Amino acid sequence: MNDMKSIVKKYVGHRGQLKKAATGYSSKKGNYHSERYPEIVIFMKHGPEYITLIRKTVNMHNPEMFIELGTLHGGLTMGIMEGCSDVEIHSFDYKRSLSPGLSLIFFDNGVTCHRANLMLEKPSEDLVNLLTENKHRRKILYCDNGDKIKEVNTYAKYISPGDLIGCHDWLFEIGPNEIEETLRDFEPYDHEPYERMLAWTRFWIKK
Ligand SMILES: C[S@@+](CC[C@H](N)C(=O)[O-])C[C@H]1O[C@@H](n2cnc3c(N)ncnc32)[C@H](O)[C@@H]1O
Repeated sequence: MNDMKSIVKKYVGHRGQLKKAATGYSSKKGNYHSERYPEIVIFMKHGPEYITLIRKTVNMHNPEMFIELGTLHGGLTMGIMEGCSDVEIHSFDYKRSLSPGLSLIFFDNGVTCHRANLMLEKPSEDLVNLLTENKHRRKILYCDNGDKIKEVNTYAKYISPGDLIGCHDWLFEIGPNEIEETLRDFEPYDHEPYERMLAWTRFWIKK
C-alpha cells in the first residue's frame, strides 16, 4: 500500500488531476496485432505493452479459465487467446462491438463471448453462474468494464481461494480506498512489474 501511496503522490495532483508523467509509459489505448492472423489489427483500451505484462501474470498463475469483463473489440481477449495456452476464455460485454470476422475466429478458438449487463442492481446471473459452477477451477477474473469499483466489489465474492481478480485503470478509476473491504480477502499478486512500469493494471489473489 505504501508503494501505491507514493505513486499516487508522485503522479496525481492535489485536486485529483493526473500529472503528465503518469501517462508516459502506460498508454491507455493501442492496437493489438494478431500473431496468428497477420491481417488482423484490433484497437484496444490497453497499451500494447500490457499484453506482455498481463500474459506473463496469466501464464505464471496458469489458470483453467480467464474471464474478462469488457470485451470491446476483443483486443485483449485475442492477446490472451494467442499468448496463453490451455486457458478457457470468456468475455462479457453488454454491447456487440466485435466484428463478425473476429466473432468467428473466437468461436473457432473456443473463446466464448457473452452479452450481459453487469451493472444492474442485481449481479448478472450469467456471470455469477459461470463463476459458481466453476468454483473448483483455477480462475482469473479481469475487470475492465464501465464501473471497475462496482465490478470488483460485486463479483470478487464469487471467486474461490487461489483465484485471481484483476482490474484496469488502477489509481485512475479505482484505488485502494474504493475496494478496501473487498481487498481484505486478497493479497497482491505480481504487482512489482506493474508498479515498476507505472502500468494501470493490478491483480490480487484470494486468500
Ligand atoms: C474499457 S472497454 C473494454 C476494453 C477491452 N478490455 C480492451 O482491452 O480493449 C469497456 C467495455 O465495457 C462495456 N460495458 C460498459 N458498461 C457495461 C455494463 N454495464 N455491462 C456490460 N458491459 C459494459 C463497454 O461496452 C465496453 O466495451
